[in-house]
Amino acid sequence: MCGIVGFTGAQAAAPLLLEGLKRLEYRGYDSAGIAVMGGGIRVEKVSGKVEKLCEKTGDGALVPGSTGIGHTRWATHGAPTDLNAHPHLSNDGRFAVVHNGIIENYAALREELTAKGYSFISETDTEVIVHLLEMYDSGDLKATVMKTVARLEGSYALGVLCADAPDTLFAVREASPLILGVGVGENYFASDVTALVSYTKNAIYLDDGEFAELTPKGITIYDCSGKRLDKPITRITWDVEAAEKGGYEHFMLKEIMEQPAAVRAAIAPRLKDGEVKLEEFDLSEEELRQFRKIVITACGSAYYAGCAAKYALEALTRIPVEAVLASELRYGDPLIDEHTLLIVISQSGETADTIAAMKECRSRGAKALAIVNVVGSTIAKTADWTLYTWAGPEIAVATTKGYTTQLAVLFLLAMSMGRKLGALTEERYPALLYDILRLPKLIQEAIDLNHGIPALAKKYHDSPSLFFIGRNTDWASALEGALKMKEISYIHAESYAAGELKHGTIALIEEGTPVIAVCCNEALEDKTVSNIVEVKARGARVLAVAFRGDRKIVSQANDVIFIPRINTLFTPVLAVIPMQLLAYCVARENGCDIDKPKNLAKSVTVE
Ligand code: G6P
Repeated sequence: MCGIVGFTGAQAAAPLLLEGLKRLEYRGYDSAGIAVMGGGIRVEKVSGKVEKLCEKTGDGALVPGSTGIGHTRWATHGAPTDLNAHPHLSNDGRFAVVHNGIIENYAALREELTAKGYSFISETDTEVIVHLLEMYDSGDLKATVMKTVARLEGSYALGVLCADAPDTLFAVREASPLILGVGVGENYFASDVTALVSYTKNAIYLDDGEFAELTPKGITIYDCSGKRLDKPITRITWDVEAAEKGGYEHFMLKEIMEQPAAVRAAIAPRLKDGEVKLEEFDLSEEELRQFRKIVITACGSAYYAGCAAKYALEALTRIPVEAVLASELRYGDPLIDEHTLLIVISQSGETADTIAAMKECRSRGAKALAIVNVVGSTIAKTADWTLYTWAGPEIAVATTKGYTTQLAVLFLLAMSMGRKLGALTEERYPALLYDILRLPKLIQEAIDLNHGIPALAKKYHDSPSLFFIGRNTDWASALEGALKMKEISYIHAESYAAGELKHGTIALIEEGTPVIAVCCNEALEDKTVSNIVEVKARGARVLAVAFRGDRKIVSQANDVIFIPRINTLFTPVLAVIPMQLLAYCVARENGCDIDKPKNLAKSVTVE
């Protein structure tokens, strides 16, 4: 969703801000703008891409000045027009603001400010902030910012520029991420480390209620009462190449190919002396026995990772597991108490619904274990325990390595808990451990086995609708497969539990309808084969995902994509690979904007 950058130093600000905004493009946005101090505040903004803003400003050369703020906007209040784009300017032109999040009390503030004579030119909630700054302006910028922020309800990360303090920026955080970049003779802020990493590796993570004053000479951080705070500098461990395409046509393809290494990074530090060891969640058997149920909550693909891992968690721990969408859980009056282990899954660690669901469950006594990729994110910081997935930066909106590393960590968790609880027996453990150790290699094989996918994409790319079916773990994989297809190719794709077909979806099957059948659960293979036969009898073209060498499936399906054999509980991590590649190739065939699909955002920080 929206992105923020800020810079103050001796260099020209505009080119740096534009570069930062380009690095934030992956988050999803529909307009962009910058404000730079140069004998007064100059604002340039456009609806559309950052590229358009670069053209308008001669790559920043036409906007002189060495202190500024920038923004990519994902429209919430008001259409994606030039006027609604950020930064917004106060009526007297002395304050400029960029904002991520939502000001929930903006309607009342707008009424109050209008009555006082301030004129609004946009439909945004954000514009109230610049008028408040002008109204509270006392000549003491820090006090003005504090008075303004005290009036705001909702979530916000703010960047503030004031004409009276030409080399000063203010950065404010409340329930929306904001990170400070510490440089030499220059300082930065951004809503995402991706925008900072080419300039500095030294970051300070602001917490909710904190704000910072940045000048080229230094950064001062305050709590909400204005008291100075000392906060540690965190070293960013990945470099700029990790956030670049490295020769691939799209980030999504690069990230698909990175999965063997990403999964290796997720599991290697957690396998010690032939045992799964989760130092970050090292509970005793007695402590684990407190949990009478496990509730998994997340959104989008992270939720599907939860659906897929539920089988391993239940099978290996024998604790009942429920996966609930965060947007449902947060308002659901859930039956959750101190005997519930809440597993919160999120690539970004900033998804608004997931954060709210976690808060709700913790307020009912549940303990939260987060599985998160982005270090220092809100979910990672507020959970009781955090297991990082160590996937590195994921830029494509449609997650791939984020999802498979979540699964890998969840499988380790299931094994570790199962061992301690005694539910995972001595006899069963070595085979599972062997499969976990081989996961990176098997993922590579799943990639290598599927060089025929571009040709298959040519067969399937013009279908108006695709159906994905499977049973048990295969159904969970089918859900993620269908989501990948929808997200990036814009083709209607529906996932169904194979046994449910006859209760609805089968009415939609006609001559030539593609059905992707995931058949990697050997115990249920005959059942899924019956479903394949049923849909074929009605004219469907079946593309199966099956274990290499599965003759029964080869004889039944029109086309087959193969994965290497693995324990049934772990199949989702392999079954998804050919479906990621298929979605990618279909979207490419159809000329879609693969890394930045329309209407979607990488990190959904508003409800
Ligand atoms: C958005 C993204 C999805 C992602 C979901 C959850 O909808 O487009 O790809 O799965 O958010 O994101 P999270 O960062 O919490 O995993």
